[in-house]
Amino acid sequence: MDQQRHQELLAKANAFIEEHYNEVDKSSYPHFHLAARYGWINDPNGFCYALGKYHIFYQFYPYDAKWGPMHWGHATSTDLIHWKHEEVALAPSEDYDRDGCFSGSAIEHDGKLYLIYTGHKVLVEAGDNSICREVQALAVSTDGVHFEKLGVVIEPEDENIRNFRDPKVWRDDADGLFHVVFGATNLQHAGEIRHYTSSDLFHWNLISVVKEMEDNAFMYECPDFFELPATDAEGKAGKWVLATSPMGQAPVGYTRQNPSVNSWQSGSFDGKVFTPESNLYEVDRGHDFYATQSTATPDGRRVLLAWMNMWKLPFLNYPDHWCGALTLPREISYKDGHLYQKPVREAASLRTKEYAMSAADSTLKSTFKVVTTNAATEISFKVTPQENDAEQYGIAIGNSIRLFFDRQTKTLTLFRLDLNATSYRALPLAWDQEHELQIFIDNSSIEVFIDGGHDTMTSNFFGKDHSVSLYATNGQAAFKETRVYDLERPMFGA
Ligand code: FRU
Repeated sequence: MDQQRHQELLAKANAFIEEHYNEVDKSSYPHFHLAARYGWINDPNGFCYALGKYHIFYQFYPYDAKWGPMHWGHATSTDLIHWKHEEVALAPSEDYDRDGCFSGSAIEHDGKLYLIYTGHKVLVEAGDNSICREVQALAVSTDGVHFEKLGVVIEPEDENIRNFRDPKVWRDDADGLFHVVFGATNLQHAGEIRHYTSSDLFHWNLISVVKEMEDNAFMYECPDFFELPATDAEGKAGKWVLATSPMGQAPVGYTRQNPSVNSWQSGSFDGKVFTPESNLYEVDRGHDFYATQSTATPDGRRVLLAWMNMWKLPFLNYPDHWCGALTLPREISYKDGHLYQKPVREAASLRTKEYAMSAADSTLKSTFKVVTTNAATEISFKVTPQENDAEQYGIAIGNSIRLFFDRQTKTLTLFRLDLNATSYRALPLAWDQEHELQIFIDNSSIEVFIDGGHDTMTSNFFGKDHSVSLYATNGQAAFKETRVYDLERPMFGA
């Protein structure tokens, strides 16, 4: 390993960011979500609590607001909401990762922070990323900021295996072993999720395949596999959750409409075989949500976040010198066969001001009402569709977003109106029940938590008018228990 070369490349990236971050156009930049100070980010990596704080790393190209040879950016936090940007953690420097330090995860061991990631090497000169060799590699840090590469620890058994990436590591207290899962395309061109174990993080044995190809998925990117904390009083083992980003699955009805889909299922795991108890279910039903990664918190929660963008859908921030952000961290729970996501409770600390909203203020008839012009907003309300006769009702953000209950399709529809990106996602809802929405709006993104997180919808938008209105078209709608908050902007100037 040429550690000196790695340190020089990191120093070059850090210096470039320092020199250029002032050029970022912040007119769409997130106020309370994490984005890079300069350049491009995609998947969250290495999400963990280690050496006394939370760490999040991310796929990062520091030199431009486009995907390029992947580095790992890094930020730390004590509350999952206020993040401090750290120095770049990994840069492509060795032959095995020369075209990118791809996605991976992190774990604390013996007072050190280990990263396990995919080294990506393109095998053709033309730079076709699909003709490549991928391996799992290790890096380590004693101070939680500066990383030294330790080399390749898992290689494919055949040179024709190309997709072989995105290791997610955990330690099982019961067997004392480290476990890792990652995605691969096998020699039959089918996607699978492999499971390996190790006693020292360096030597790994293939134990099982925890998921085989389903619905034509030729690759499962960024798998995550974890046990939820026990929910019953007897402390019985919790459910296992397999979350993944399958490639190649076609749309079905209102679902799987994104070019790449993020799904999960719950079940049981005997150390070898994962037995699902539910079908794959889309983790988020908006436009911009991919490559989830989760971690356990010191107080026993399971928290997940994702890249708040989507391959092959518009990224319109390119001229602004930044592109990509991570979602709010979300607490995961399981109830009656279903997985729920709620914004982490720490997100409530972002509220700076509550607007007074009377019941009269939030019953609208064929009209709209601007409730805030703040670009960092939380808004929540309840509606019972069958009590309302309006054709459409919900919230509007400038000329970019309409999030509405739609009488004709009986769906909650998230419609992005921006030209070049005009598109909607729809979630069918029971029309005779009360529904509750909690919505976070952050300058160019909207995250919607529906019915206590039974479903979520996350999308970006591109217009610069941030006024948020309640509206009802062709009839009356009651928005019950409406709450509107201004939020703090910790990440805007960070
Ligand atoms: C998913 C992904 C991963 C890969 C990384 C490269 O978004 O394609 O499979 O490791 O991005 O940046």
